[in-house]
Amino acid sequence: MASLGVNIDHIANVRQARGTVEPDPVPMALLAELGGADGITVHLREDRRHIQERDVKLLRETVQSRLNLEMAATPEMVSIALKYRPEMVTLVPERREELTTEGGLDVAGQITYLKNIVKQLDEENIPTSMFIDPLQKQIEACLETKATWIELHTGSYSESDFLKKPLELARLTEATAKARSLGLRVNAGHGLTYQNVEPVAAIPEIEELNIGHTIVARALAVGLKDAVSEMKQMVQNPRQERIF
Ligand code: PXP
Repeated sequence: MASLGVNIDHIANVRQARGTVEPDPVPMALLAELGGADGITVHLREDRRHIQERDVKLLRETVQSRLNLEMAATPEMVSIALKYRPEMVTLVPERREELTTEGGLDVAGQITYLKNIVKQLDEENIPTSMFIDPLQKQIEACLETKATWIELHTGSYSESDFLKKPLELARLTEATAKARSLGLRVNAGHGLTYQNVEPVAAIPEIEELNIGHTIVARALAVGLKDAVSEMKQMVQNPRQERIF
């Protein structure tokens, strides 16, 4: 049975849209854990568009499950990872103009560079995962870098139409089997939703699914009614005494 890593970047997105203090992803991570999250995932992007270094610091102090730090393979990010010591680092490609992580990391094109990063993290007992497309060439390259994990990009599966889904699912299943046969551990994620997650969750040997956007969207759907009703209460029955 796969475990669930909850990506809380989108909570920080709402905060950053206003440049204010709410919603704070740090206490939300605790709620995610209370809901059953087996791990908390955050992507500290180079442009700091959602998660901030302050969040990583506080999450490191408060997360009781496992902290998975997604980051670009850069010296700045490696030093941040070494400072906060997450349970896992997931290396992802990053382009400033992208809306979200589009496509997997080209591990095959930079084996030596990435091997060195894996080594630096490994020396501090931080295992590395590579976020890759489900391609044999990329899987074999991950083995060469000595990464412990791969995370299969499920974007093509998620975006494919009804007719192409079985093919995309077969690619994920085959990639998982290939990686496991080489001794790599396998996670998966990106674009998974309440509608499409189950066939991926049923792939044997995938250990963890990292899911973010759909959970945050669902939280709004299940929470908005109560939030409005609390505000309506205050608007209609304000305290009479001055509070400032
Ligand atoms: N895994 C990785 C490596 C990601 O970059 C993301 C998106 O930040 C996710 C999983 C989660 O994707 P989603 O928000 O679409 O569930």
